[in-house]
Amino acid sequence: MSQRRILLGVTGGIAAYKSAELVRLLKKSGHEVRVVMTAGAEAFVTPMTFQALSGEPVRTGLLDPAAEAGMGHIELAKWADLVVVAPASADFMARFANGMADDLLTTICSATESPIALAPAMNQAMWKNHRTQRNLALLQADPQVTLWGPALGDQACGDTGPGRMLEALDIVDRVNAPAGSDLAGRRVVITAGPTREAIDPVRYITNHSSGKMGYALAEAARRAGAQVTLISGPVTLAAPDGVDLRMITTAAELLKASGAAVDEGCDIFIATAAVADYRPETCAEQKVKKSGEQISLSLVRNPDILATVAARPDAPFMVGFAAETSDIERYALDKLTRKRLAMIVANDVSRPEVGFNSDQNAVTVFWPGGQQSFGARSKVGLAVELVALIADRYRAVRAQ
Ligand code: C5P
Repeated sequence: MSQRRILLGVTGGIAAYKSAELVRLLKKSGHEVRVVMTAGAEAFVTPMTFQALSGEPVRTGLLDPAAEAGMGHIELAKWADLVVVAPASADFMARFANGMADDLLTTICSATESPIALAPAMNQAMWKNHRTQRNLALLQADPQVTLWGPALGDQACGDTGPGRMLEALDIVDRVNAPAGSDLAGRRVVITAGPTREAIDPVRYITNHSSGKMGYALAEAARRAGAQVTLISGPVTLAAPDGVDLRMITTAAELLKASGAAVDEGCDIFIATAAVADYRPETCAEQKVKKSGEQISLSLVRNPDILATVAARPDAPFMVGFAAETSDIERYALDKLTRKRLAMIVANDVSRPEVGFNSDQNAVTVFWPGGQQSFGARSKVGLAVELVALIADRYRAVRAQ
């Protein structure tokens, strides 16, 4: 990880108190940090706080007689190799999206040629407001700008919804994400684990999926800067930090939760869930009693979640997993085309040391016109490499 010269812009919002911790964590990661505050920010936190934490004078005014040639904004714009605005208020987003340069921070943003990352923070209704969304669309289309967040959750005003600033640690993760694995600002939905299909109140059909690969991918995608929703079947794993975890039990619930997550906004959909292909036609209301020597269970086909999402007109970049026991390449390539996927990750679950329930995995990834193999390695390490490859392919497809 390289040391960076970070210009942190702080605008007026209650989340400005979190920016003090952000400065501390950025410095701890080895970065140089200089802080510029808007007039609104000064109503929430004092420049002295940031000066003490950054070890640098804090700039607040556009015309600074103390700066070289009185043009502090140009010096700072050239000095920074990354500009992070956190919190970015609705007012700042509006002024910046429209090219205004009416205070020091917007002027620096106009003068810098370095990337600019915004961590929005505002009340959920302000975030959803059509004017804010119009400004957001302008910023999303700007190649110099990346949006980090906002997150969903409780707000200082008592509301709940989108508009919370990302936690300082999440912003630092995005700053530190290795080049090439960068998913900053991307929304990634991952399905993981098995599904359970009830036979009666005490019995169900399931499989050996542990969820480890999906959870490791969720962690790796978050570290690469993505906003991650993890939809998980019943597993015994701890919830990864900073990931929006939604638990489901059945394939029908997984389908519903996946549709809802994609409706909320999704750039990349990764399906690692081992979905039961069939479910009992009916679930007995009472426990089925032992009777004759044989019993038969009528099963009906479950929906294919991956194929259903891929068939949407607004389908995200789709990544499937294919757990096979033979003829891996042929089956994987068939699924790639049949399910209309951008990539498929194939693993041989017949090998006892890798795959289901193991901490290790070995896979080959296929995409239209290419493939890459990863020999046996830990699922955590593999997840980091897969996320980097997915990010590369995603960028390549978008650039076409
Ligand atoms: O089961 P199959 O080999 O077809 O699974 C391939 C991919 O499709 C996996 O990514 C899996 O998560 C997904 N899948 C799904 N819904 C199903 C079956 C599979 O999303 N009902």
